[in-house]
Amino acid sequence: MQLPPGPKTPSWLLLLQFKADIFGYMDTISRRYGDIVTLMFGSTPTVYVSHPLGIKEIFTNTKEIVARGALNQEGFALFAGEQGILQLDGARHKHRRKLLMSAFHGARMQACGQRICELTEKIMSLQAIGKPFLAYSTIEDITLAVGIEIVMGLCEGARYDRIKRLFALFEVTEKLSFWRWNFGGQSREKYLLYLQQELLQILDAEVQERRQQADPSRTDMLSELVLATDETGEPITDEEIRDLLISPIGAAQGASATAIAWALYWIHHLPHVRDRLLEELNALGENPDITSILALPYLNAVCNEVLRIYPTQLFTFPRIVESPVEIMGYRLNPETILIANIYSTHQREDLYPQPKQFKPERFLERQFSTYEFLPFGGGSRVCIAGTFALFEMKLVLATILSHYQLKLNKKQVEKPKFDGLLCYPASGIKMIMQDRYHHKG
Ligand code: HEM
Repeated sequence: MQLPPGPKTPSWLLLLQFKADIFGYMDTISRRYGDIVTLMFGSTPTVYVSHPLGIKEIFTNTKEIVARGALNQEGFALFAGEQGILQLDGARHKHRRKLLMSAFHGARMQACGQRICELTEKIMSLQAIGKPFLAYSTIEDITLAVGIEIVMGLCEGARYDRIKRLFALFEVTEKLSFWRWNFGGQSREKYLLYLQQELLQILDAEVQERRQQADPSRTDMLSELVLATDETGEPITDEEIRDLLISPIGAAQGASATAIAWALYWIHHLPHVRDRLLEELNALGENPDITSILALPYLNAVCNEVLRIYPTQLFTFPRIVESPVEIMGYRLNPETILIANIYSTHQREDLYPQPKQFKPERFLERQFSTYEFLPFGGGSRVCIAGTFALFEMKLVLATILSHYQLKLNKKQVEKPKFDGLLCYPASGIKMIMQDRYHHKG
Protein backbone atom coordinates (compact mmCIF):
# COMPACT_ATOMS: atom_id res chain seq x y z
CA MET A 1 0.00 0.00 0.00
CA GLN A 2 1.50 3.30 -1.05
CA LEU A 3 0.32 6.68 0.17
CA PRO A 4 -0.26 9.48 -2.35
CA PRO A 5 2.81 11.75 -2.74
CA GLY A 6 3.53 14.63 -0.39
CA PRO A 7 6.24 16.62 1.36
CA LYS A 8 8.34 15.04 4.11
CA THR A 9 7.98 18.15 6.27
CA PRO A 10 7.80 17.52 10.05
CA SER A 11 4.48 18.40 11.72
CA TRP A 12 5.75 21.44 13.59
CA LEU A 13 6.99 23.00 10.34
CA LEU A 14 3.79 22.05 8.53
CA LEU A 15 1.75 23.83 11.18
CA LEU A 16 3.98 26.90 10.85
CA GLN A 17 3.51 26.88 7.07
CA PHE A 18 -0.26 26.52 7.52
CA LYS A 19 -0.25 29.45 9.90
CA ALA A 20 2.02 31.68 7.80
CA ASP A 21 0.14 31.36 4.48
CA ILE A 22 -2.17 28.43 3.99
CA PHE A 23 -3.32 29.64 0.57
CA GLY A 24 0.23 29.88 -0.83
CA TYR A 25 1.08 26.55 0.76
CA MET A 26 -1.94 24.77 -0.74
CA ASP A 27 -1.19 26.30 -4.17
CA THR A 28 2.41 25.08 -3.94
CA ILE A 29 1.61 21.49 -2.95
CA SER A 30 -1.11 21.25 -5.63
CA ARG A 31 1.38 22.38 -8.26
CA ARG A 32 4.09 20.04 -7.00
CA TYR A 33 2.14 16.89 -6.14
CA GLY A 34 -1.16 17.19 -8.03
CA ASP A 35 -4.72 16.21 -7.18
CA ILE A 36 -4.12 14.04 -4.14
CA VAL A 37 -1.48 14.91 -1.55
CA THR A 38 -0.46 13.33 1.77
CA LEU A 39 0.57 15.51 4.70
CA MET A 40 1.93 13.75 7.78
CA PHE A 41 0.74 15.14 11.09
CA GLY A 42 2.79 13.00 13.47
CA SER A 43 2.31 9.40 12.39
CA THR A 44 -1.18 10.01 10.96
CA PRO A 45 -1.37 10.45 7.20
CA THR A 46 -3.87 13.11 6.15
CA VAL A 47 -4.79 12.92 2.49
CA TYR A 48 -6.06 16.13 0.83
CA VAL A 49 -8.07 15.57 -2.35
CA SER A 50 -8.74 18.29 -4.92
CA HIS A 51 -9.98 16.33 -7.94
CA PRO A 52 -13.77 16.02 -8.53
CA LEU A 53 -13.51 12.25 -9.08
CA GLY A 54 -11.62 11.70 -5.83
CA ILE A 55 -14.05 13.96 -3.98
CA LYS A 56 -16.96 11.97 -5.39
CA GLU A 57 -15.31 8.77 -4.14
CA ILE A 58 -15.09 10.25 -0.63
CA PHE A 59 -18.60 11.75 -0.45
CA THR A 60 -20.43 8.74 -1.87
CA ASN A 61 -18.65 6.00 0.08
CA THR A 62 -20.46 5.37 3.35
CA LYS A 63 -19.09 1.87 3.87
CA GLU A 64 -15.33 2.20 4.11
CA ILE A 65 -15.18 5.93 4.89
CA VAL A 66 -16.79 7.53 7.94
CA ALA A 67 -17.30 11.14 9.06
CA ARG A 68 -16.45 10.11 12.62
CA GLY A 69 -17.72 12.57 15.23
CA ALA A 70 -14.74 11.96 17.54
CA LEU A 71 -12.51 13.60 14.90
CA ASN A 72 -14.24 16.89 15.67
CA GLN A 73 -13.87 16.67 19.45
CA GLU A 74 -10.56 18.45 19.48
CA GLY A 75 -10.73 21.98 18.18
CA PHE A 76 -14.47 22.25 17.62
CA ALA A 77 -15.96 20.82 20.83
CA LEU A 78 -15.14 23.58 23.28
CA PHE A 79 -18.08 25.70 22.39
CA ALA A 80 -20.26 23.04 20.80
CA GLY A 81 -20.73 20.81 23.82
CA GLU A 82 -20.22 17.07 23.74
CA GLN A 83 -23.38 16.12 21.91
CA GLY A 84 -23.29 18.77 19.21
CA ILE A 85 -24.07 17.71 15.65
CA LEU A 86 -20.38 17.81 14.70
CA GLN A 87 -19.55 15.37 17.47
CA LEU A 88 -22.15 12.79 16.39
CA ASP A 89 -22.00 10.11 13.70
CA GLY A 90 -23.95 7.10 12.46
CA ALA A 91 -27.74 6.78 12.78
CA ARG A 92 -28.01 9.35 15.56
CA HIS A 93 -26.16 11.95 13.48
CA LYS A 94 -28.43 11.30 10.50
CA HIS A 95 -31.55 11.58 12.63
CA ARG A 96 -30.53 14.82 14.39
CA ARG A 97 -29.46 16.43 11.11
CA LYS A 98 -32.94 15.82 9.75
CA LEU A 99 -34.49 17.48 12.78
CA LEU A 100 -32.28 20.55 12.53
CA MET A 101 -32.90 20.85 8.81
CA SER A 102 -36.66 20.93 9.21
CA ALA A 103 -36.27 24.54 10.40
CA PHE A 104 -35.43 25.50 6.80
CA HIS A 105 -38.53 24.23 5.05
CA GLY A 106 -41.00 25.92 2.73
CA ALA A 107 -43.19 28.69 4.09
CA ARG A 108 -40.87 29.24 7.04
CA MET A 109 -38.22 30.50 4.67
CA GLN A 110 -40.57 33.15 3.27
CA ALA A 111 -41.25 34.61 6.75
CA CYS A 112 -37.58 34.36 7.56
CA GLY A 113 -36.70 36.26 4.35
CA GLN A 114 -38.77 39.21 5.46
CA ARG A 115 -36.99 39.25 8.82
CA ILE A 116 -33.56 39.08 7.18
CA CYS A 117 -34.36 42.22 5.14
CA GLU A 118 -35.73 44.03 8.22
CA LEU A 119 -32.74 43.13 10.41
CA THR A 120 -30.33 44.19 7.66
CA GLU A 121 -31.99 47.59 7.36
CA LYS A 122 -32.18 48.02 11.12
CA ILE A 123 -28.49 47.29 11.70
CA MET A 124 -27.21 49.13 8.59
CA SER A 125 -29.23 52.23 9.45
CA LEU A 126 -27.17 52.58 12.63
CA GLN A 127 -24.13 53.54 10.52
CA ALA A 128 -23.39 57.25 10.29
CA ILE A 129 -22.94 58.80 6.85
CA GLY A 130 -19.27 59.49 6.11
CA LYS A 131 -17.87 57.57 9.09
CA PRO A 132 -15.85 54.37 8.43
CA PHE A 133 -17.18 51.09 9.81
CA LEU A 134 -15.97 47.50 9.73
CA ALA A 135 -18.15 45.58 7.32
CA TYR A 136 -17.27 42.19 8.79
CA SER A 137 -18.43 43.00 12.33
CA THR A 138 -21.52 44.86 11.12
CA ILE A 139 -22.55 41.88 9.00
CA GLU A 140 -21.81 39.61 11.94
CA ASP A 141 -24.37 41.56 13.98
CA ILE A 142 -26.92 40.82 11.26
CA THR A 143 -26.10 37.14 10.80
CA LEU A 144 -25.93 36.48 14.54
CA ALA A 145 -29.36 38.05 15.06
CA VAL A 146 -30.74 35.97 12.15
CA GLY A 147 -29.04 32.84 13.55
CA ILE A 148 -30.50 33.19 17.06
CA GLU A 149 -33.91 33.73 15.53
CA ILE A 150 -33.92 30.69 13.24
CA VAL A 151 -32.27 28.41 15.77
CA MET A 152 -33.97 29.52 19.00
CA GLY A 153 -36.89 31.63 17.87
CA LEU A 154 -35.72 34.54 20.04
CA CYS A 155 -35.54 38.10 18.76
CA GLU A 156 -35.50 40.20 21.93
CA GLY A 157 -35.30 40.10 25.72
CA ALA A 158 -32.58 39.71 28.33
CA ARG A 159 -31.75 36.12 27.37
CA TYR A 160 -31.49 37.02 23.70
CA ASP A 161 -29.14 39.93 24.56
CA ARG A 162 -26.96 37.71 26.74
CA ILE A 163 -26.69 34.94 24.13
CA LYS A 164 -25.77 37.51 21.50
CA ARG A 165 -23.11 39.01 23.71
CA LEU A 166 -21.62 35.62 24.62
CA PHE A 167 -21.32 34.56 20.98
CA ALA A 168 -19.79 37.90 20.06
CA LEU A 169 -17.26 37.63 22.92
CA PHE A 170 -16.46 34.06 22.00
CA GLU A 171 -15.82 35.04 18.39
CA VAL A 172 -13.45 37.87 19.36
CA THR A 173 -11.59 35.78 21.93
CA GLU A 174 -11.12 32.86 19.54
CA LYS A 175 -9.63 35.09 16.87
CA LEU A 176 -6.93 36.44 19.17
CA SER A 177 -3.88 34.82 17.74
CA PHE A 178 -1.39 35.03 20.58
CA TRP A 179 -1.45 31.98 22.75
CA ARG A 180 -0.63 33.23 26.24
CA TRP A 181 -3.22 35.91 26.43
CA ASN A 182 -4.32 37.05 29.87
CA PHE A 183 -7.76 38.26 30.66
CA GLY A 184 -7.99 39.61 34.20
CA GLY A 185 -5.31 37.15 35.25
CA GLN A 186 -6.92 34.21 33.45
CA SER A 187 -5.63 32.38 30.42
CA ARG A 188 -7.48 32.60 27.12
CA GLU A 189 -8.64 28.99 27.40
CA LYS A 190 -10.00 29.59 30.87
CA TYR A 191 -11.90 32.59 29.66
CA LEU A 192 -13.36 30.60 26.75
CA LEU A 193 -14.43 27.95 29.22
CA TYR A 194 -16.09 30.59 31.37
CA LEU A 195 -18.00 31.88 28.31
CA GLN A 196 -19.03 28.34 27.48
CA GLN A 197 -20.36 27.69 30.99
CA GLU A 198 -22.34 30.94 30.89
CA LEU A 199 -23.80 30.03 27.54
CA LEU A 200 -24.71 26.49 28.60
CA GLN A 201 -26.57 27.84 31.65
CA ILE A 202 -28.61 30.28 29.62
CA LEU A 203 -29.42 27.69 26.98
CA ASP A 204 -30.42 25.21 29.73
CA ALA A 205 -32.87 27.75 31.15
CA GLU A 206 -34.37 28.45 27.73
CA VAL A 207 -34.69 24.75 26.84
CA GLN A 208 -36.47 24.01 30.14
CA GLU A 209 -38.85 26.90 29.72
CA ARG A 210 -39.63 25.91 26.17
CA ARG A 211 -40.19 22.31 27.19
CA GLN A 212 -42.86 23.51 29.65
CA GLN A 213 -44.54 25.71 27.05
CA ALA A 214 -44.09 23.57 23.94
CA ASP A 215 -45.81 25.32 21.05
CA PRO A 216 -46.26 23.41 17.78
CA SER A 217 -46.94 26.62 15.85
CA ARG A 218 -43.38 27.89 16.44
CA THR A 219 -40.99 27.19 13.62
CA ASP A 220 -37.48 27.49 15.05
CA MET A 221 -35.05 24.57 15.58
CA LEU A 222 -35.47 24.60 19.37
CA SER A 223 -39.26 24.26 19.16
CA GLU A 224 -38.78 21.39 16.74
CA LEU A 225 -36.32 19.65 19.08
CA VAL A 226 -38.43 19.85 22.27
CA LEU A 227 -41.32 18.14 20.49
CA ALA A 228 -39.20 15.53 18.72
CA THR A 229 -38.40 11.97 19.71
CA ASP A 230 -35.12 10.20 19.10
CA GLU A 231 -34.54 7.16 16.86
CA THR A 232 -35.92 4.86 19.62
CA GLY A 233 -39.06 6.94 20.21
CA GLU A 234 -37.82 8.61 23.43
CA PRO A 235 -37.80 12.42 23.89
CA ILE A 236 -34.42 14.04 23.30
CA THR A 237 -32.82 15.08 26.60
CA ASP A 238 -32.57 18.75 27.54
CA GLU A 239 -28.81 18.48 27.67
CA GLU A 240 -28.59 17.12 24.14
CA ILE A 241 -30.97 19.77 22.82
CA ARG A 242 -28.81 22.44 24.39
CA ASP A 243 -25.67 21.04 22.74
CA LEU A 244 -27.40 20.71 19.36
CA LEU A 245 -28.23 24.42 19.31
CA ILE A 246 -24.69 25.71 19.58
CA SER A 247 -23.00 24.80 16.26
CA PRO A 248 -25.87 26.09 14.11
CA ILE A 249 -25.86 29.48 15.89
CA GLY A 250 -22.07 29.68 15.60
CA ALA A 251 -22.13 28.71 11.92
CA ALA A 252 -24.99 31.06 11.16
CA GLN A 253 -22.97 33.88 12.67
CA GLY A 254 -19.46 33.11 11.46
CA ALA A 255 -19.76 31.38 8.09
CA SER A 256 -22.55 33.59 6.77
CA ALA A 257 -20.87 36.81 7.93
CA THR A 258 -17.63 35.79 6.28
CA ALA A 259 -19.33 35.07 2.96
CA ILE A 260 -21.37 38.29 2.95
CA ALA A 261 -18.43 40.47 4.01
CA TRP A 262 -16.32 39.01 1.18
CA ALA A 263 -19.18 39.72 -1.22
CA LEU A 264 -19.31 43.36 -0.12
CA TYR A 265 -15.58 43.59 -0.70
CA TRP A 266 -15.62 42.15 -4.25
CA ILE A 267 -18.69 44.14 -5.28
CA HIS A 268 -17.12 47.43 -4.21
CA HIS A 269 -13.60 46.53 -5.28
CA LEU A 270 -14.73 45.90 -8.85
CA PRO A 271 -16.99 48.74 -10.08
CA HIS A 272 -18.17 46.77 -13.15
CA VAL A 273 -19.56 44.06 -10.84
CA ARG A 274 -21.39 46.64 -8.72
CA ASP A 275 -22.82 48.41 -11.79
CA ARG A 276 -24.11 45.20 -13.28
CA LEU A 277 -25.66 44.08 -10.00
CA LEU A 278 -27.35 47.44 -9.46
CA GLU A 279 -28.71 47.37 -12.99
CA GLU A 280 -30.21 43.93 -12.36
CA LEU A 281 -31.66 44.95 -8.99
CA ASN A 282 -33.04 48.28 -10.20
CA ALA A 283 -34.89 46.53 -13.03
CA LEU A 284 -37.08 44.91 -10.35
CA GLY A 285 -38.46 48.34 -9.35
CA GLU A 286 -38.96 49.63 -5.82
CA ASN A 287 -39.66 47.13 -3.03
CA PRO A 288 -39.22 43.94 -5.08
CA ASP A 289 -40.58 40.72 -3.64
CA ILE A 290 -38.23 38.16 -2.19
CA THR A 291 -38.86 35.54 -4.85
CA SER A 292 -37.74 37.83 -7.65
CA ILE A 293 -34.56 38.81 -5.78
CA LEU A 294 -33.69 35.15 -5.24
CA ALA A 295 -34.12 34.44 -8.96
CA LEU A 296 -31.67 37.12 -10.19
CA PRO A 297 -29.03 35.33 -12.28
CA TYR A 298 -26.14 37.79 -11.87
CA LEU A 299 -26.67 38.10 -8.09
CA ASN A 300 -26.60 34.30 -7.94
CA ALA A 301 -23.39 34.19 -10.00
CA VAL A 302 -21.73 36.82 -7.76
CA CYS A 303 -22.59 34.83 -4.60
CA ASN A 304 -21.22 31.63 -6.13
CA GLU A 305 -18.01 33.32 -7.25
CA VAL A 306 -17.55 34.75 -3.73
CA LEU A 307 -17.85 31.22 -2.31
CA ARG A 308 -15.51 29.84 -4.99
CA ILE A 309 -12.59 32.22 -4.76
CA TYR A 310 -12.19 32.16 -0.97
CA PRO A 311 -14.46 29.38 0.23
CA THR A 312 -15.70 30.20 3.72
CA GLN A 313 -14.45 26.78 4.83
CA LEU A 314 -11.26 25.81 2.96
CA PHE A 315 -11.66 22.13 3.80
CA THR A 316 -14.44 19.76 4.73
CA PHE A 317 -14.48 18.29 8.20
CA PRO A 318 -12.22 15.21 8.31
CA ARG A 319 -13.34 11.74 7.25
CA ILE A 320 -11.54 8.55 8.23
CA VAL A 321 -10.87 5.28 6.42
CA GLU A 322 -12.46 2.43 8.42
CA SER A 323 -11.55 -0.45 6.13
CA PRO A 324 -9.10 -0.47 3.18
CA VAL A 325 -10.38 1.66 0.34
CA GLU A 326 -9.18 2.87 -3.06
CA ILE A 327 -9.24 6.63 -3.72
CA MET A 328 -7.99 7.83 -7.11
CA GLY A 329 -6.08 4.60 -7.59
CA TYR A 330 -4.35 4.64 -4.18
CA ARG A 331 -5.26 1.93 -1.70
CA LEU A 332 -5.53 3.56 1.70
CA ASN A 333 -5.17 1.88 5.10
CA PRO A 334 -7.67 2.17 7.96
CA GLU A 335 -7.15 5.27 10.15
CA THR A 336 -5.98 7.39 7.21
CA ILE A 337 -7.65 10.81 7.40
CA LEU A 338 -9.33 12.14 4.25
CA ILE A 339 -10.14 15.77 3.56
CA ALA A 340 -11.94 17.20 0.54
CA ASN A 341 -9.82 20.23 -0.27
CA ILE A 342 -12.49 22.78 -1.23
CA TYR A 343 -10.02 25.63 -1.74
CA SER A 344 -7.68 23.79 -4.15
CA THR A 345 -10.59 22.30 -6.12
CA HIS A 346 -11.96 25.82 -6.60
CA GLN A 347 -8.50 26.89 -7.82
CA ARG A 348 -8.28 24.30 -10.61
CA GLU A 349 -7.35 25.91 -13.94
CA ASP A 350 -9.21 23.20 -15.88
CA LEU A 351 -12.48 24.11 -14.16
CA TYR A 352 -11.98 27.80 -13.44
CA PRO A 353 -9.58 29.47 -15.94
CA GLN A 354 -7.63 32.33 -14.31
CA PRO A 355 -8.75 31.13 -10.89
CA LYS A 356 -7.30 34.09 -8.98
CA GLN A 357 -9.61 36.47 -10.80
CA PHE A 358 -13.10 37.29 -9.57
CA LYS A 359 -15.35 36.51 -12.55
CA PRO A 360 -19.02 35.83 -11.77
CA GLU A 361 -19.64 35.20 -15.50
CA ARG A 362 -18.14 31.73 -15.16
CA PHE A 363 -21.28 30.71 -13.29
CA LEU A 364 -23.49 32.09 -16.08
CA GLU A 365 -21.52 30.30 -18.78
CA ARG A 366 -21.48 26.80 -17.36
CA GLN A 367 -22.88 24.53 -14.69
CA PHE A 368 -20.58 22.89 -12.18
CA SER A 369 -21.20 19.54 -10.55
CA THR A 370 -21.40 19.18 -6.75
CA TYR A 371 -17.88 17.70 -6.80
CA GLU A 372 -16.47 20.64 -8.77
CA PHE A 373 -18.11 23.46 -6.83
CA LEU A 374 -18.51 22.49 -3.18
CA PRO A 375 -18.57 25.49 -0.83
CA PHE A 376 -20.91 23.57 1.50
CA GLY A 377 -18.95 20.29 1.48
CA GLY A 378 -20.83 17.10 0.65
CA GLY A 379 -21.84 13.60 1.65
CA SER A 380 -22.99 12.72 5.15
CA ARG A 381 -21.78 15.95 6.76
CA VAL A 382 -22.78 18.41 4.04
CA CYS A 383 -23.80 21.81 5.47
CA ILE A 384 -27.33 21.61 6.86
CA ALA A 385 -27.99 25.17 5.69
CA GLY A 386 -26.49 25.56 2.20
CA THR A 387 -29.74 26.70 0.60
CA PHE A 388 -30.54 28.95 3.52
CA ALA A 389 -27.04 30.51 3.49
CA LEU A 390 -27.36 31.50 -0.19
CA PHE A 391 -30.87 32.79 0.46
CA GLU A 392 -29.61 34.95 3.33
CA MET A 393 -26.58 36.12 1.36
CA LYS A 394 -28.73 37.30 -1.54
CA LEU A 395 -31.29 39.09 0.64
CA VAL A 396 -28.72 40.88 2.80
CA LEU A 397 -26.76 42.01 -0.27
CA ALA A 398 -29.85 43.11 -2.21
CA THR A 399 -31.11 45.08 0.82
CA ILE A 400 -27.78 46.80 1.36
CA LEU A 401 -27.19 47.60 -2.31
CA SER A 402 -30.63 49.00 -2.92
CA HIS A 403 -30.77 51.14 0.24
CA TYR A 404 -27.23 52.36 0.81
CA GLN A 405 -24.37 53.69 -1.21
CA LEU A 406 -21.17 52.26 0.23
CA LYS A 407 -17.53 52.41 -0.75
CA LEU A 408 -14.33 50.81 0.46
CA ASN A 409 -12.39 53.08 2.76
CA LYS A 410 -9.17 52.32 0.91
CA LYS A 411 -8.64 50.93 -2.55
CA GLN A 412 -6.50 48.04 -1.41
CA VAL A 413 -6.46 44.32 -2.00
CA GLU A 414 -8.04 42.47 0.93
CA LYS A 415 -6.04 39.46 2.12
CA PRO A 416 -7.70 36.28 3.35
CA LYS A 417 -6.91 34.92 6.80
CA PHE A 418 -7.50 31.37 8.00
CA ASP A 419 -8.44 30.85 11.65
CA GLY A 420 -8.29 27.05 11.60
CA LEU A 421 -11.86 26.76 10.29
CA LEU A 422 -12.98 29.86 8.42
CA CYS A 423 -11.31 32.00 5.78
CA TYR A 424 -12.21 35.56 6.63
CA PRO A 425 -11.10 39.00 5.34
CA ALA A 426 -7.92 39.89 7.28
CA SER A 427 -8.60 43.60 7.83
CA GLY A 428 -12.34 43.22 8.46
CA ILE A 429 -13.03 45.44 5.39
CA LYS A 430 -13.35 49.08 6.36
CA MET A 431 -16.16 50.78 4.44
CA ILE A 432 -17.88 54.15 4.40
CA MET A 433 -21.58 54.78 3.94
CA GLN A 434 -21.83 57.64 1.47
CA ASP A 435 -25.58 57.95 1.15
CA ARG A 436 -28.97 56.41 1.89
CA TYR A 437 -31.59 55.96 -0.79
CA HIS A 438 -35.09 56.84 0.27
CA HIS A 439 -37.74 54.49 -1.02
CA LYS A 440 -41.42 55.11 -0.99
CA GLY A 441 -43.74 52.72 0.83
C1 HEM B 1 -22.09 30.83 3.47
C2 HEM B 1 -22.35 30.19 4.58
C3 HEM B 1 -21.92 28.78 4.91
C4 HEM B 1 -20.93 28.00 4.36
C5 HEM B 1 -19.99 28.34 3.21
C6 HEM B 1 -20.96 26.73 5.07
C7 HEM B 1 -20.11 25.67 4.79
C8 HEM B 1 -20.09 24.46 5.46
C9 HEM B 1 -19.18 23.38 5.20
C10 HEM B 1 -18.07 23.38 4.14
C11 HEM B 1 -19.47 22.37 6.06
C12 HEM B 1 -18.73 21.03 6.17
C13 HEM B 1 -19.29 20.02 5.21
C14 HEM B 1 -18.47 18.76 5.11
O1 HEM B 1 -17.64 18.44 5.98
O2 HEM B 1 -18.66 18.04 4.10
C15 HEM B 1 -20.58 22.81 6.88
C16 HEM B 1 -21.17 22.06 7.88
C17 HEM B 1 -22.14 22.55 8.71
N1 HEM B 1 -22.81 23.77 8.60
FE1 HEM B 1 -22.47 25.22 7.24
N2 HEM B 1 -21.94 26.77 6.03
C18 HEM B 1 -22.55 28.00 5.96
C19 HEM B 1 -23.61 28.44 6.73
C20 HEM B 1 -24.23 27.70 7.71
C21 HEM B 1 -25.38 28.13 8.48
C22 HEM B 1 -26.13 29.43 8.25
C23 HEM B 1 -25.65 27.13 9.35
C24 HEM B 1 -26.75 26.99 10.37
C25 HEM B 1 -27.81 27.72 10.51
C26 HEM B 1 -24.67 26.07 9.13
C27 HEM B 1 -24.60 24.91 9.87
C28 HEM B 1 -23.71 23.87 9.63
C29 HEM B 1 -23.64 22.67 10.45
C30 HEM B 1 -24.47 22.39 11.71
C31 HEM B 1 -22.66 21.84 9.87
C32 HEM B 1 -22.20 20.46 10.36
C33 HEM B 1 -23.09 19.39 9.77
C34 HEM B 1 -22.79 18.01 10.29
O3 HEM B 1 -21.86 17.84 11.08
O4 HEM B 1 -23.50 17.08 9.89
N3 HEM B 1 -23.84 26.46 8.12
N4 HEM B 1 -20.95 24.10 6.49
